[in-house]
Amino acid sequence: QSSGIAMTPPMGWNSWNHFHRNVTDAIIRQQADAMVSSGMRDAGYIYINIDDTWEGGRDAQGNILTNSKFPDMKALADYVHSKGLKLGIYSSPGAKTCAGFEGSLGYEEQDAKTYAAWGIDYLKYDLCGLGVQMKAAGSHEAAHKIMVDAYVKMRDALRSTGRPIVYSLCQYGVDDVWKWGPSVGGNLWRTTGDINDTYARMADIGFNQQLGLAPYAGPGHWNDPDMLEVGNGGMTTDEYKTHMSLWAILAAPLLAGNDLTTMTPETLAILTNHDVIAVDQDKLGKQGDRVSADGLTEMWARPLEGGAEAVGIFNRGTSTATTEVDFHKLGFSGSVKARDLWLHKDLGSIKGPYSVTIPAHGVVMLRVWK
Ligand code: GLA
Repeated sequence: QSSGIAMTPPMGWNSWNHFHRNVTDAIIRQQADAMVSSGMRDAGYIYINIDDTWEGGRDAQGNILTNSKFPDMKALADYVHSKGLKLGIYSSPGAKTCAGFEGSLGYEEQDAKTYAAWGIDYLKYDLCGLGVQMKAAGSHEAAHKIMVDAYVKMRDALRSTGRPIVYSLCQYGVDDVWKWGPSVGGNLWRTTGDINDTYARMADIGFNQQLGLAPYAGPGHWNDPDMLEVGNGGMTTDEYKTHMSLWAILAAPLLAGNDLTTMTPETLAILTNHDVIAVDQDKLGKQGDRVSADGLTEMWARPLEGGAEAVGIFNRGTSTATTEVDFHKLGFSGSVKARDLWLHKDLGSIKGPYSVTIPAHGVVMLRVWK
């Protein structure tokens, strides 16, 4: 990975979860405007990332072209930069992208140069299209080598541009990507298949599929449980708070995936909860994990700078739950100080066990310190 970038998990916005194939230059500009006017930029959301479907084939010299939805990528990057934001783009190591557009296979250096010339700051590089070559490889070992070589190729191409470009690997956890992601230069890597805007899918990815991955994350290289669905309408407010809290404890990238121009004050409040963002962006860069589970109530914790802990007490059930938080489980003895990160309220000095009531699919999130 380029050193010195993504020292905390990247924060920004990506077009896919809300706009899918309908993303355009105008939409990107509107989202950039809204990122600033809503206060999200100042809360830390910096990257505006164009996902799949911008690609328009190649010219006679092999240069990648934009399609009619993106008339001038350099001008768009200039616009986004003028707002104090950064611009991200998407490609695949295969001949085609996931949505069937032009990929980078055989053009890695040329594409990286084009991205740098446009002023691109972030590349999501999506395995999808390389499946053709991997299947034809004949063995798992050979397929793995094709994949790793392809990611190394783009890493080197990005590095030789001299421009700091966040390198986001997208390959759904294939071959335990968290084990080889850092060696191919990944600043982050997708650990699972795609999220969608349902509690069931978000919870399966967040609670079930991230267990045990904490040791693989750290400054400059993060596990990516996929982009946020907060504000897209398929979950309740409590469920979106769970999504945001869990992603912060997981030291996940916070890439909003909603339409920033029409979000409700409630959505904005979830996305810009500065207490929760501070957990996500904690400089120690240690990912959290599950500490204990009691039926459908789970306690997750993440170590923070200065000996503090971020704690999420999650209710995965469909009715209100009451439970007692035992701070000894986090390694504290005697009384602790705590702050409720959704109520934005200091709780003073408390002696456990501390009783909490958690709504269905909801969370109580605390910062605890001595
Ligand atoms: C894959 C990725 C998604 C999105 C689409 C675009 O499914 O996992 O995040 O980028 O491709 O085609």
